[in-house]
Amino acid sequence: MSKTPDLALRFAGIKLRNPLVLLSGTAGAGREIKKLVELGRFGALCTKTVTFQPRPGNPPPRIAETPSGLVNSIGLENPGFARFLEETAPGLRSLPLPVIASIAGNGPELSRMAEALTGAGPAGLEINLSCPNVGGAFNPTAPTEIERLLREVRRATGLPLLAKLPPDFYRIGDLARAAETAGCDGLTVANTLPAMVFDLKLRKPRLGGITGGLSGPAVLPVSLYLVHRARQAVGLPIIGSGGVHDADGAVSMLLAGAQAIGLGTVNFFRPLAYREILQALAEFRTAGPGRRKPTP
Ligand code: FUM
Repeated sequence: MSKTPDLALRFAGIKLRNPLVLLSGTAGAGREIKKLVELGRFGALCTKTVTFQPRPGNPPPRIAETPSGLVNSIGLENPGFARFLEETAPGLRSLPLPVIASIAGNGPELSRMAEALTGAGPAGLEINLSCPNVGGAFNPTAPTEIERLLREVRRATGLPLLAKLPPDFYRIGDLARAAETAGCDGLTVANTLPAMVFDLKLRKPRLGGITGGLSGPAVLPVSLYLVHRARQAVGLPIIGSGGVHDADGAVSMLLAGAQAIGLGTVNFFRPLAYREILQALAEFRTAGPGRRKPTP
């Protein structure tokens, strides 16, 4: 009988049992999603982004479904860093997988949070540079700004550092290079795509925040493109993030150049998809090109 291949990897200095990462904003801090999935079967979990000050988030409605997609306008609702550090961080080590804490803010805020989180529970940090529902200081867009910000955070922590880049089709290579130059250990490519949905009866936007971020199967081909471009630009390991919902999508992410595969919106509509994906990854590891049958 053939042995199941070992899918373990070191990603940005973090030991993962397999390449599957539960993406930020879709898995809470583990407590909630563990009622739906076996956390111990994933490589890592990334927590919902926390900011230095608490944020109430955007007005409702905050979610609108579209064909093959979901547009969210959450607005980074979170209880603030002090509560995260006191109430959430200490429990992260007892989860059966490494946890990456997602943080967003300006340079001084990010540095303070990164320093305080060092040794406090998370196995690594993801700097969210790309939430479509907040602007300004949280989302630098120029490669030089991104490099400066990430250098500042790098100085504040020895934890593995990932940059969650925006889906900037034209500059994704430059942004990836900026993160690499700043000393990041890995990338998440990318975030949701800025989007809008209208209620035609009311002739008004469906989201309380007017605009939002598109995720789900609809964005997969775009994510594959972004991962491919980032891979051409840098050697950093990449969490391919956006639209993976089945085995074919997961394998495609690896082919595009990702080392790890993010599962996000799929957690809302098919949380057990990871089972078939793990099986496909094992087959992909053992079979040569053309040997794995695509999902019917
Ligand atoms: O909280 C948020 O608004 C996150 C949105 C996103 O990253 O899509």
